[in-house]
Amino acid sequence: MTLWSGRFSTSMDATLWDLSESYSFDHVLYHHDIMGTKAHVRGLHASGLLSEEELEQLMVTLDDIEAEFDRGVFVRSGSDEDIHMAIERRATELAGDVGAKIHTSRSRNDQVATTLRLFTRDALVQVATATLQLVRALHEVGERNPGAYLPGYTHLQRAQPVLLSHHLNAHAWSLLRDVDRLADNRDRMNVSPLGAGALAGTSLPIQPAFTAELLGFKEPFANSMDAVSDRDFVAETLFDIAMIGIHLSRMGEELVLWTSAEFSFATLGDDFTTGSSMLPQKKNSDVAELARGKAGRLVGNLTGLLVTLKGLPLSYNRDLQEDKEPLFDSLRNVLLVLAALAGTYHSLTFNATRAAEAADDPFLVAIDIAEKLVEEGVPFRQAHEEVGKLVGEAVSSHVSLRDVVEANERYARFVNLFETGTALQQRRSPGGSGPIAAPEQARRLHDAVEQLTRRLES
Ligand code: ARG
Repeated sequence: MTLWSGRFSTSMDATLWDLSESYSFDHVLYHHDIMGTKAHVRGLHASGLLSEEELEQLMVTLDDIEAEFDRGVFVRSGSDEDIHMAIERRATELAGDVGAKIHTSRSRNDQVATTLRLFTRDALVQVATATLQLVRALHEVGERNPGAYLPGYTHLQRAQPVLLSHHLNAHAWSLLRDVDRLADNRDRMNVSPLGAGALAGTSLPIQPAFTAELLGFKEPFANSMDAVSDRDFVAETLFDIAMIGIHLSRMGEELVLWTSAEFSFATLGDDFTTGSSMLPQKKNSDVAELARGKAGRLVGNLTGLLVTLKGLPLSYNRDLQEDKEPLFDSLRNVLLVLAALAGTYHSLTFNATRAAEAADDPFLVAIDIAEKLVEEGVPFRQAHEEVGKLVGEAVSSHVSLRDVVEANERYARFVNLFETGTALQQRRSPGGSGPIAAPEQARRLHDAVEQLTRRLES
């Protein structure tokens, strides 16, 4: 018998039960559901709907139930449809008649919306914290390899030399935007739906502002129908996570390339690589491939929920129960990848010699020659054309660009630009990839991390 069976003459068919029950996955919400229920119970007391003794009895009962979950000894009854009903059923078992008062002026519709917001609010901080840890891991690779540089690529063709720290910070900045986005989401979703009831509020004298404050929400809902219908915050969270996943997939792809024999820019620790079941020599960067591959399901979870929400009539519809599994799945998977990638970067050995050889490719100096001509008053388009001709000559005659420049008296004075590491030094504009601009960027990155860390703590 379920808690709502009053108007029914037969019990639910087993196939509907299997379809309908959500306890099997929503039991992980127990802590936040009890938190919301405690605030609700305090609200009932403040509104004169529960006596002092009843309040105290319910608080103790709810603590006892939470302890049962914490210790893993909570027993689900066959009729517990979801976590909300399981907790109410157990409260009534433990506290008797007063337990049966818990649901006064509340519906599972405002209850689940409240519980899920409380859960998501904490989860956002967890994801943000793990993302900041990955930012630190990226930064440390640069610290461990001071002065290391590699070719920067566009179209995956060698373009200009860049400091390793500059390259890895490019990933760090994208992750910092993700953290900023998670913090924005937390601010926006921090509104209490508790007190909206099934959809229209109640005739009883409750005060949603009171319970909102108890739960640390910025304010209570303004519209009860919106309060029980709204899952924007879940969709936003799934987007935030999908975006992180996309950033992680780009880092994963890069690690796959860097650890290939063809690039050989990096080696991962044995503890972050896997072997082959057939080929004894293999050392595979599976961690990077999974980081790349997980993006698919993270985007899928977002897409799935958006499609569920599309066209839903006001207000609560059971379709909304489909919000939880994608949310839990995305959270679990993004946290797995964030932690594993942080460890991977800690384990990474950068092959600075090999990367510098690639970055000292004479063609990467072409732009610097053109810019020297510009400094001497040659219009850029003309300089580009002139150097382009030198490149063409080098390619067709199979001679290094350096030798072509040295042999041509109009350009021979620029030959020192081909010295090892010189092109990197030329990248001096603010935010650029060379060592001159690096300290300013390091300062800004450090400030951004500090600021976001404070924002998450507030
Ligand atoms: N398990 C349900 C969910 O996750 C709780 C709300 C059920 N409400 C209802 N009217 N059947 O959405």
